[in-house]
Amino acid sequence: MFKLGWFVNGFAPKTWHGPWAGENRTEWMGPGFWQDVARGLERGGFDMFFLEDTAMIEDTYEGSAAYTLRHAAMAPKNDPMPLMPLLAAATKHIGLVSTISTIQYPPYLAARLGTTLDHLTEGRIGFNVVTSVSHRVAQNYGYERHLEHDERYVMAEEWMDAVSQLWESWEPDALVLETDPPFFADHTKVKAVDFEGKYFRTRGPLNTVPGPQRRPVIAQAGGSPKGRDLAARNADVMLGLVQSPEEMVEFRADMDRRLAAFGRDPDDLHIFFMAHAYIGESDRDGRERFDAVAASRHDPSAIAAKLWAMSYTSGGEIDFSKFDLDGPVPTRLGNGETTTHKAWTAAGAGKTLRDVVTGPANYGLDFVGSAATIASQMDEVMRATGRMDGFLIQGIEDELTRRSLAEVTDGLCPELKRRGLIRKSYEHDTFRENLESW
Ligand SMILES: Cc1cc2nc3c(=O)[nH]c(=O)nc-3n(C[C@H](O)[C@H](O)[C@H](O)COP(=O)(O)O)c2cc1C
Repeated sequence: MFKLGWFVNGFAPKTWHGPWAGENRTEWMGPGFWQDVARGLERGGFDMFFLEDTAMIEDTYEGSAAYTLRHAAMAPKNDPMPLMPLLAAATKHIGLVSTISTIQYPPYLAARLGTTLDHLTEGRIGFNVVTSVSHRVAQNYGYERHLEHDERYVMAEEWMDAVSQLWESWEPDALVLETDPPFFADHTKVKAVDFEGKYFRTRGPLNTVPGPQRRPVIAQAGGSPKGRDLAARNADVMLGLVQSPEEMVEFRADMDRRLAAFGRDPDDLHIFFMAHAYIGESDRDGRERFDAVAASRHDPSAIAAKLWAMSYTSGGEIDFSKFDLDGPVPTRLGNGETTTHKAWTAAGAGKTLRDVVTGPANYGLDFVGSAATIASQMDEVMRATGRMDGFLIQGIEDELTRRSLAEVTDGLCPELKRRGLIRKSYEHDTFRENLESW
């Protein structure tokens, strides 16, 4: 059996124009659409609903925010944190992961928020811990520019230590709750942490009572060596960007080694590999859909979108609109999402920039065919790691409508359930327990 998560690029406009967009251009701002998504995923048997976040309006591409705002590209974006309890109220079991940046949230604020959300979601909150990749985000939070890539991870490790100590500042039996005589909590079991690091200081203890999970499920997505170490030390969930079953096996083996080096059981980390499902009524239909998407990447609008995305993942350092599309792929690496960026530039060795921008838009494993065929392919691929890992499904070209969701939750998922490949029900109350149950 394997697990499923759904990745959404932010509490942001989703597919907001075109035949199946509905009223998304305004509806995305409120809770209803997202509650429908969460309910659909729970019906499908998903372990988690995963919301990315970035706090900025990107203006690298063509040196302005014109493209970004015209196309609603990664902006605007609401803060995902307040949405979490509203999703929890609309569902019963699914894990809810919100992104939290180590430069946006001082440890005390983060730890207190995590515990409060753990209570409000009744044990279903997770945090995707990111360092943020752009100078623009850093500038919104008081920095002149963002730290250099590896130093961001030094900061993130320290942040994780501080937050973890705050979550442990109440011993498990500190809460007494006797009414006669009244005795709420035992102060000898609630301790200061006196954390002092290079970037953060916090005294503690936390002024919140531990939640059902004690600490939210921690996810991590950075795939560089430093990112992998951050996950190996701290995370319960990791997002893996790979292109083939062979890379999946390598990724898993590398993470196993890193967890062991930090004294953790490798089975404590659940890797969700990014995947896209081109589901058709028949295999041929699915293949035609895949081919149509591949062909559409040659449209000028799709090329602009990819150049915009490359500018963003460079950490806001390289404006890809400036290069000759038929010239070589620029190899300079920005200070941003190095793994994604390296993959793009590596794919372009000896090729033109046009070859790269018209290639696959999103990293991950592509499954193509009828729901039954895709279920078999997923089974086969997952057997390759021999572990109970998962897939992190993302809409094709980031599409998300009620229709595209239903293709997976009501088309593919029943097929996976019939074969006993994914959960049919949730055994436990909390996200962490369900995640760890197999
Ligand atoms: C699947 C995936 C999801 C991510 N989600 C976010 C996010 O929500 N917010 C953010 O600032 N960075 C996000 N990132 C960026 C990473 O967390 C990380 O900071 C970045 O990839 C740079 O790390 P690396 O060089 O180790 O890959 C994401 C990356 C990946 C691959």
